[in-house]
Amino acid sequence: MLIEQACESFKTLLCQQLERVNNYKAQHVDYTTKEVVTIGIIDGDGIGPIIMEAAKRVLYELVKDEINSGKIVIKVIDGLTIENRLALNEPVPKSVLEEIKSCDVLLKGPTTTPMGGKMESANVTLRRELDLYANVRPVQIPQEGIDWIFYRENTEGEYVLGSRGIELPGLAMDFKVTTDFGTKRIARAAFEYAKNNGKNRVSIVTKANIMKKTDGKFTAVCHEVAKDYPDIEVDDWYIDIMTANLVNPAIRNQFQVVLLPNLYGDIITDEAAQIQGGVGTAGSANIGDRYAMFEAIHGSAPRMIQEGLGDYANPASILKALVLLLQHICRPAAAERLLKAMDSCRVAVTGDRDGATCKEYADALISLI
Ligand code: IPM
Ligand code: MG
Repeated sequence: MLIEQACESFKTLLCQQLERVNNYKAQHVDYTTKEVVTIGIIDGDGIGPIIMEAAKRVLYELVKDEINSGKIVIKVIDGLTIENRLALNEPVPKSVLEEIKSCDVLLKGPTTTPMGGKMESANVTLRRELDLYANVRPVQIPQEGIDWIFYRENTEGEYVLGSRGIELPGLAMDFKVTTDFGTKRIARAAFEYAKNNGKNRVSIVTKANIMKKTDGKFTAVCHEVAKDYPDIEVDDWYIDIMTANLVNPAIRNQFQVVLLPNLYGDIITDEAAQIQGGVGTAGSANIGDRYAMFEAIHGSAPRMIQEGLGDYANPASILKALVLLLQHICRPAAAERLLKAMDSCRVAVTGDRDGATCKEYADALISLI
């Protein structure tokens, strides 16, 4: 009986997944011609409101002329707090999602994900609802010649059904989903990036020796897409050795664009960010055809709040995300001004009382912009 029920649920999942890919309709946005760009701002939880306050001030400073002329509209969206989500029992409350969908792009602070239980992560819901299929995370260490960019598939893999696994007494089963459609579009995004940015190598990372169906498909489809880019060298790695490669100084600066499924991308981008200087230092872009969401790579740091260190949170990651947002909406000059100011700002935030506060850093940065 239990097995029959589980089979029924599995059937529903299969149908829904096929429907998802079969009903897709692309809606592209061209930011070079779009007259008004609406940027939604979401504070998030924990250290979110603190680092977002800095990010908001910097954003206003960078685009104040366009805000005044109405070309850029900033919309502050409340209600995506963990308290509100738990009270309503919705990972992204309906009214919040509606507001989000009235924007073009979002700058979002970290949102807390309850461990266990049934509640889905707000990030995962947003990535799915807005169809943000490319998670793009650049990591650079210029003095070592490291210039990596990770193209992580963001709407499939272990995440898409992560809250919808099956449990029988003594047995739990989760699902991993890979489609031709989902893989093609992330591979296309990675290769297009390489082609347009003078990169000549794309590294595909999976565990296709073990996850034969899903990762096997991912690799095969990526190689199919690669055929359209004969000038770009393609290589395959398994995720375990790739995590070692990133800490191997003899070869790590040879990697350029890294293309990988969802969960491996989640894990390895934290490693990469740590190598760059900490998870607080890397920005993250979630890009779809219609919407895009930019966020810090780290979480809401509840421990920092508990220890009374919230004011010392480092806004570098959310500011890097803001750079990515400005590049995405075709404001390269504003993105460049922010990057330059960050490069030359000598105020150090260390995440504890030895360093500057988030606000002190923002004050210094704004004076440099
Ligand atoms: C990230 C985060 C998210 C993820 C969490 C918050 C759901 O770790 O953006 O990397 O696992 O994707
Ligand atoms: Mg992560």
